[in-house]
Amino acid sequence: MIRIRKVDGQRHRRVLADLHDETFGDTAPQIDTSYGDFWIAYDEATPVGFCQMVQSTLAPNVGYHKRAGVLASHRGQGLQLRFLKVREAYAKRRGWTRVISDTAFHNISSSNNLIRAGYRLFEPPLRWAFATGLYWTKDIT
Ligand SMILES: CC(C)(COP(=O)(O)OP(=O)(O)OC[C@H]1O[C@@H](n2cnc3c(N)ncnc32)[C@H](O)[C@@H]1OP(=O)(O)O)[C@@H](O)C(=O)NCCC(=O)NCCS
Repeated sequence: MIRIRKVDGQRHRRVLADLHDETFGDTAPQIDTSYGDFWIAYDEATPVGFCQMVQSTLAPNVGYHKRAGVLASHRGQGLQLRFLKVREAYAKRRGWTRVISDTAFHNISSSNNLIRAGYRLFEPPLRWAFATGLYWTKDIT
């Protein structure tokens, strides 16, 4: 059974960096574990995926799904959707009213999971991601 645990980013920075390397390779800058919140998915004792959430600079009370990755060996089991849900629940507990994310336009799996979780496309006032990035939003009030 795969369990998702909230972890201290600093204490788990080595395993988070390894998971990031294995899932993103050189397609995205390495994560900064000095800020934000982190979760790791464990298959028994083995880390198989991770995700991060930070407070958005877009507006007050907004959470940002910053990064998520699942090892190739564990894809196709709905872990990305579980990562979205666990972070949304956390954002609600913090009193945030909205969560946002961005995806590369060619990342169909991520877009489909955001649609499954009830996100909608939106255009932010300032595009912070790749020129062809897609921006997603969901109210959680
Ligand atoms: C994108 C990513 C997080 C998806 O994670 P996941 O937990 O496998 O997501 P899902 O279980 O919903 O599977 C995604 C799709 O892959 C398909 N799939 C099934 N088995 C698979 C396998 N063994 N390997 C890869 N994909 C598989 C699923 O059927 C699903 O397709 P669908 O959306 O049409 O149903 C993961 O592929 C990943 O880490 N990619 C590299 C990093 C990345 O792009 N992160 C997201 C940035 S926004």
